[in-house]
Amino acid sequence: MKEVYDALNAFLEDGSIVGMGSGSTIGGYIPYMKEHVDRHNLDIAFIPTSRKTESQLKEHGLKVVHHAEQMPVTIDGADQFDTSLMVVKGGGGSLLREKQVGYFSDHIVIIAHQNKKVDDFSGIAVPVEINAYLYEMTIGTIEKALGAETKMRMGPQGLFVTDNGNHIVDCTFNGPLDMDDIHNNLIAIPGVVETGIFNRKVSHIYSFDDQGAHQEYKKDI
Ligand code: A5P
Repeated sequence: MKEVYDALNAFLEDGSIVGMGSGSTIGGYIPYMKEHVDRHNLDIAFIPTSRKTESQLKEHGLKVVHHAEQMPVTIDGADQFDTSLMVVKGGGGSLLREKQVGYFSDHIVIIAHQNKKVDDFSGIAVPVEINAYLYEMTIGTIEKALGAETKMRMGPQGLFVTDNGNHIVDCTFNGPLDMDDIHNNLIAIPGVVETGIFNRKVSHIYSFDDQGAHQEYKKDI
């Protein structure tokens, strides 16, 4: 893990604003990253991709901001990825802010367990954030127009509510899939706020396994 964390730390530029993702993998990285920032006396502020990440950053005494003229990198986790660096995210429900922060940064660097690697995305639940108003009509359209199987994400008190006050519907597609098309078709439906398909901006994926092996996948973006 140390090698992977060090690889992520190498993207942290002194004097910059960095996007910081969400999830348990990122939660494990933040204390290590904090040590690196302190050891090298780096002046870095972070734009968080969720309220939870914002709390974690603040608990570690790291600076949080919500605006940047320039953001060289976002570091985030993933639910699934393939070797073409197509990534599905949103298992934790933070996909909209993750998409926003990633989009506004120059590129996204992902850290994920090797068991998140897939050959294709058929049969995998793609999280989609949808507006609460008329959400049943939105999911009906997703089912009919895209042939998806859908399941509303549930929270402790009924439908899951995102940091943005929306709901999440997990959509499963079968067969050979074009993830760019799926994203474009979903986002064209009124009521769909964002999809968990990260088909742009991901430049590096660092994967690790339980035996301490790690691997880097990268592409020019
Ligand atoms: C949050 O919405 C997600 O996109 C997370 O980044 C993703 O689910 C990875 O989470 P874990 O690191 O907890 O597996």
